Amino acid sequence: MGVWWIVVVAVLTHTASATVREYDWEVEYKFWQPDCIEGAVMTVNGQFPGPTIQAVAGDTIVVHLTNKLTTEGLVIHWHGIRQLGSPWADGAAGVTQCAINPGETFTYKFTVEKPGTHFYHGHYGMQRSAGLYGSLIVDVAKGQRERLRYDGEFNLLLSDWWHEPIPSQELGLSSKPMRWIGEAQSILINGRGQFNCSLAAQFSNTSLPMCTFKEGDQCAPQKLNVEPNKTYRIRLASTTALASLNLAVQGHKLVVVEADGNYITPFTTDDIDIYSGESYSVLLTTDQDPSQNYYISVGVRGRKPNTTQALTILNYVTAPASKLPSSPPPVTPRWDDFERSKNFSKKIFSAMGSPSPPKKYRKRLILLNTQNLIDGYTKWAINNVSLVTPATPYLGSVKYNLKLGFNRKSPPRSYRMDYDIMNPPPFPNTNTGNGIYVFPFNVTVDVIIQNANVLKGVVSEIHPWHLHGHDFWVLGYGDGKFKPGIDEKTYNLKNPPLRNTAILYPYGWTALRFVTDNPGVWFFHCHIEPHLHMGMGVVFAEGLNRIGKIPDEALGCGLTKQFLMNRNHN
Ligand code: C2O
Ligand code: CU
Repeated sequence: MGVWWIVVVAVLTHTASATVREYDWEVEYKFWQPDCIEGAVMTVNGQFPGPTIQAVAGDTIVVHLTNKLTTEGLVIHWHGIRQLGSPWADGAAGVTQCAINPGETFTYKFTVEKPGTHFYHGHYGMQRSAGLYGSLIVDVAKGQRERLRYDGEFNLLLSDWWHEPIPSQELGLSSKPMRWIGEAQSILINGRGQFNCSLAAQFSNTSLPMCTFKEGDQCAPQKLNVEPNKTYRIRLASTTALASLNLAVQGHKLVVVEADGNYITPFTTDDIDIYSGESYSVLLTTDQDPSQNYYISVGVRGRKPNTTQALTILNYVTAPASKLPSSPPPVTPRWDDFERSKNFSKKIFSAMGSPSPPKKYRKRLILLNTQNLIDGYTKWAINNVSLVTPATPYLGSVKYNLKLGFNRKSPPRSYRMDYDIMNPPPFPNTNTGNGIYVFPFNVTVDVIIQNANVLKGVVSEIHPWHLHGHDFWVLGYGDGKFKPGIDEKTYNLKNPPLRNTAILYPYGWTALRFVTDNPGVWFFHCHIEPHLHMGMGVVFAEGLNRIGKIPDEALGCGLTKQFLMNRNHN
């Protein structure tokens, strides 16, 4: 009797706390000055970055998204949200839905199951680079206890910004020879950055002039106002197109507590590396001289830093807001100190009580990342296939068994083990493809991503790989070529972190494990926008006969459009 009573109360309180949060969003270009230089940015309801969605675990989010762009399609992806039971709301053009046409409205409806720091962004062409992004924060459900203790919180969404318009960037990337976009003009913190000026010009180690701002400038940095002797949660997320970043707060330690929406074993650091697609929470205690202010710096790592550090100010309310810090900002660690970068990644372990991975895998892919040529055009390929998504989104093709939607032959599950990853490819030519990897429902899959040398010179780049629809365990990293049967012994099966983005370091490999428990079709790709644009992705599908009814409005293109017309006429 007593037991039943408890169950009923639990069910009631759960439904009582789950809210439906409904939004009407319009996306359009606006002239904006992210770094005080005017350009065209994609705004949501006239805002850049887009509005922050603030929800609690268990909520249902409904976004009626209207495309007010005059000549471009549009989708929005909810990065880090698993979309259990709603794969059509994942917002990946060509994978889970048709792009929304100008003038049309598409409704995204999904639940946010667990607390975490996430974001959303455009996922059609290079619309993320155009500034289409914002934050999505999920707190613990009402009545649940947040395990982290803090007095206040801040949200810093990090991005990079180019002055060259996106259509021109895209054209350059798909020209022969390729015209590379180069390094960003500025790094943005909540959409605000500094170009050709510095907030630390009073120190002799910069030649840039002091930045000056007028009241209401779109580029004026947001200061973080804090009280002494308090602990703040700073939520960080990176939606950069290209840059790997490092953030530090002058004079203050950071305790890293969350990664990609999962609690981790807390550890203390002076600075934090953050790659595109990643999110973190850090705790910061305001234990320094309360009569001073302090720099928050965000600099580029992983690529030659030709972009000025972005700065803002940690303002103790006990000090005048206009007072500049008394010493120069933190120096970003050397860009090519990859050992340091790897050591940072290896400090991240799941929190106690997190689910541990199954001990064995059922299916395994070994995915070689190479830079290639197709008829002289520069591309990226995975196991010698450069991905081009088909005109009919995969989700509709697999659900309605539209045979011509894409090539049903699986792409290669591994690569030729005699491939020399340390040198440029001897046969650089490759092909485009749109085949996908299909997995049975509820099996354990391992994915080894394997890095290699680029087309020319002695270079191997960093690639942050992001998976839709899942968190995966990061089982390990290694240098050189992954050795099957040997390197598995180095896996961490005890407390590997659960994440949705993992870093592939130069000339190395990274091993991931996940369970195919989410019926749908899921993108897995490098989160560097130009790399994905040049083919650096694959597509996974699982539980195909368990996919529910796809809303018609996700299917208005390619073969699915014809299918809907026929169905509605019969
Ligand atoms: Cu944030 Cu498919 O990406
Ligand atoms: Cu990449």
